[in-house]
Amino acid sequence: MATAPQTQIPGYSPGLEDVIAGTSAISKVDPQGDELLYYGYKVSQLCEQSNFEEVSYLVLNGKLPTKTEFEAFNKKLVQERNVPEEILSYLCKMPEKAHYMDILRSGVSLMAHFDPQVEDNSKEAELNKSIKLIAKMPTLLAARIRALKGEKPVAPNAKLNHAANFLYMLTGKEPDADFAKALDVSLICYAEHGFNASTFTARVIASTLSDMHSCVTGAIGALKGPLHGGANEHAMYMLLKIGDPSKAEQWIRDALAKKEKIMGFGHRVYKKKDSRAPILKEWGWKMAKKLKQTKWHEMQEIVERVLMSEKKLFPNVDFPAATLYYLLDLPIEADTPLFVVARMSGWCAHIMEQRIGNRIMRPESIYTGPEPKDFVEMAKR
Ligand SMILES: CC(C)(COP(=O)(O)OP(=O)(O)OC[C@H]1O[C@@H](n2cnc3c(N)ncnc32)[C@H](O)[C@@H]1OP(=O)(O)O)[C@@H](O)C(=O)NCCC(=O)NCCS
Repeated sequence: MATAPQTQIPGYSPGLEDVIAGTSAISKVDPQGDELLYYGYKVSQLCEQSNFEEVSYLVLNGKLPTKTEFEAFNKKLVQERNVPEEILSYLCKMPEKAHYMDILRSGVSLMAHFDPQVEDNSKEAELNKSIKLIAKMPTLLAARIRALKGEKPVAPNAKLNHAANFLYMLTGKEPDADFAKALDVSLICYAEHGFNASTFTARVIASTLSDMHSCVTGAIGALKGPLHGGANEHAMYMLLKIGDPSKAEQWIRDALAKKEKIMGFGHRVYKKKDSRAPILKEWGWKMAKKLKQTKWHEMQEIVERVLMSEKKLFPNVDFPAATLYYLLDLPIEADTPLFVVARMSGWCAHIMEQRIGNRIMRPESIYTGPEPKDFVEMAKR
């Protein structure tokens, strides 16, 4: 049996902490102010002045589009929103208990069979596949959410942008403009974040020269875990368990005393703050006041205060995303899938970047098993 990891061996870093596993031009956390930048542009500025479609163009192409480039890109995104009927009807019939993340993972896997460029890893084909994957995820997610309520899918609305169209496909009604913008901002915040676990997974698969759909399928599996993307939905379950702001402080203190991890707090890269969290928190409060449902945000303020004073821990992007999505009336199990909807841009950008000067990723491990010994016949064991 393997022994516990030994942490003091030179060159070995559990969880690959501080290990440099590649180069990337796509995003960076600016050490001054912990601000996240996509190709040099501040995410806070992109949230104010851009939209998810333009940000997707930016991370996939490395530059902001001209008007003509944006229109052509957006046209393709809108045209590619439909998911093959065979896939939609198959996935909508899967057992009710199947997690949305598993549905999306299977969906991407199935989409591979319908994409004539699946085996083509050229830049041109991968840009096409990226657009298709980004365009189709909201359609698949919305159809599955409706199927679980016994409702038929709503066809995409070509007049609406990515975020607004997703909300439209859930209800068949054009969404409130603030709701759509709040979702759009969350998609921008979630679009890309360097060598996180899911992106790294995608790059490891890409490094074997496997196809883009395989890379993304693996990435979705990695994102599902509660230590990564799954944190947003688990943060909301926690707030529901707490139930009321008056109980929040004691609940968190008890959880910390039991050494429990509080979902939506802490980060491997950020040490002082996650600059995306205040952006989503502000939008969350805006929606909470608009809907006159401030309870969840009052609770969040208390949880944040206790975590900061007791553990010096700050909220990451998942904590305010959880309540924002709850107020947008999205099923909690759809929180992490919405992260997929957004991160698809970052994953695809990284897969294409990995192709440049690729070398297969094949790290070493420290052997902790037994010394060589002779085989023992079964009768003598
Ligand atoms: C994000 C995360 C996985 C980073 O992990 P990491 O860099 O390996 O850091 P560790 O888990 O080793 O945590 C370091 C210390 O902070 C504590 N800590 C970190 N995050 C914590 C949290 N959310 N709640 C309570 N304590 C936490 C750990 O218990 C540990 O304390 P110790 O040294 O006394 O044992 C971790 O902070 C976490 O599990 N957060 C909750 C899940 C989450 O929100 N994930 C989304 C990330 S965007």
